[in-house]
Amino acid sequence: MTTDDELRAIHEQNRRSWNAVTPAHNSHKLDQAGFLRRGGSTLFPDELELLGEVAGRRLLHLQCNCGQDSLSLAALGADVLGVDISDAAIVTAQALSAESGIAARFERADVLDWLDAAAADGRRFDRVFSSYGTIGWLADLPRWARGVAGVLAEGGELTLMEFHPLCWSFDGEGKVVEPYFIEGPIPERGGVNDYVARSEGVLSPSGHAPGVEGFVNPEPAFGFQHTVADIVQALADAGLFIRRLVERPYSNGCLLFPGMEPLPDRRFGMPKGVPAMPLMLGVVATRR
Ligand SMILES: C[S@@+](CC[C@H](N)C(=O)[O-])C[C@H]1O[C@@H](n2cnc3c(N)ncnc32)[C@H](O)[C@@H]1O
Repeated sequence: MTTDDELRAIHEQNRRSWNAVTPAHNSHKLDQAGFLRRGGSTLFPDELELLGEVAGRRLLHLQCNCGQDSLSLAALGADVLGVDISDAAIVTAQALSAESGIAARFERADVLDWLDAAAADGRRFDRVFSSYGTIGWLADLPRWARGVAGVLAEGGELTLMEFHPLCWSFDGEGKVVEPYFIEGPIPERGGVNDYVARSEGVLSPSGHAPGVEGFVNPEPAFGFQHTVADIVQALADAGLFIRRLVERPYSNGCLLFPGMEPLPDRRFGMPKGVPAMPLMLGVVATRR
């Protein structure tokens, strides 16, 4: 169990680690503003299918990072607000919005605090979206789920597209070497890493540059393992109705461990010859 003070200290440390790595991530992505301006999108079909129609919807993008997905959603006609704890990410997202000419708003905050305050202020959204490496940074998932329920308009939906919690158990050859059930906080060896460089261009649809080489993060970071049951139970306890629950045998965009097999469409699968395992999880939860 993490106390409020511990939670705040851990999230603030993660903020420093994300601030340190963000310039390295962006150094590998060529002309992102031009890519978005010309109609490029960083979204994958998996989340688009779960999100459904977004045009004209008030869309809250939690842990939006540098806003590439937020702006891709805004380009589809959504009225987007992105929230992220990292100063570097929010400054980059605001610049990318201005340079691409795609309107969206961005606010810097810890999502747990932000959701509590927004719910109390009566801010409401038709869609809440969170994807790919987000909830694993949060020390209190039940509080996150209550916060999401608190800002959803009647009939509004949360779409969560995440790496499957099982994927952190595999070594480079796809053998299970880490327990699925782990109490956090879990120290990330070497802080938030340069996964954009490791993913070999798959996370740089605008074009890949060598950029910063051999990035070493001076700031440690801490993650949390939320099992499938933790996620579903937190949403159900928050009063949300689980409308869709999907698992996928590939990972979109991210080389989760070294031996993964590159697949078409910017995906990675389990290493060749290893049986298929769930590598992504998608949830759609509705406020009725
Ligand atoms: C892997 S990135 C998410 C990428 C995202 N899918 C996108 O659209 O690019 C994780 C993000 O979570 C943010 N983050 C971590 N802890 C947070 C917290 N407590 N509150 C808000 N954002 C947080 C980090 O700053 C980082 O930008």
